[in-house]
Amino acid sequence: MKLLPSLAVSIATTCAIALLLWGSPSGSAWASTDELRDYGEYLAGECTTCHRLDGTDKGIPSIVGWDTESFIETLKYYKTGERKNEAMESVAKQLDDEMMKALAVYFGSLKPKDDD
Ligand code: HEC
Repeated sequence: MKLLPSLAVSIATTCAIALLLWGSPSGSAWASTDELRDYGEYLAGECTTCHRLDGTDKGIPSIVGWDTESFIETLKYYKTGERKNEAMESVAKQLDDEMMKALAVYFGSLKPKDDD
């Protein structure tokens, strides 16, 4: 059987999307995630004066290794003032959705250090 070219293209597209969705977030196949991560790394300079990158908690909570959804949700709670913290409220107010997503992808890609 011969596939119509358009059908073949749509099957190929579906496979590509499936592959992207299953690929690891740090996989190079998903260019946009890499870009987000790079953007997040750049933005993270704002955060690392307070938050430690190695996941250790010295009075300020660790924010590495979170899943993207809860990271963004938490930042939004600070932005709306639903969660109170002077420092974080003023930080979060400067972030738009794209920035929050980038930060979530970047910090989420880091692994907390195992201090056994
Ligand atoms: C001036 C210091 C400071 C800066 C800068 C800062 N934070 Fe925070 N952050 C804190 C403190 C303190 C808390 C704990 C606040 C609380 O108890 O709600 C916190 C909490 C958080 C939490 C919730 C942690 C938890 O365990 O619930 C997240 C997520 C977070 N910060 C992300 C960020 C991001 C992303 C940036 C950079 C854009 C940033 N912070 C910049 C001080 C800071």
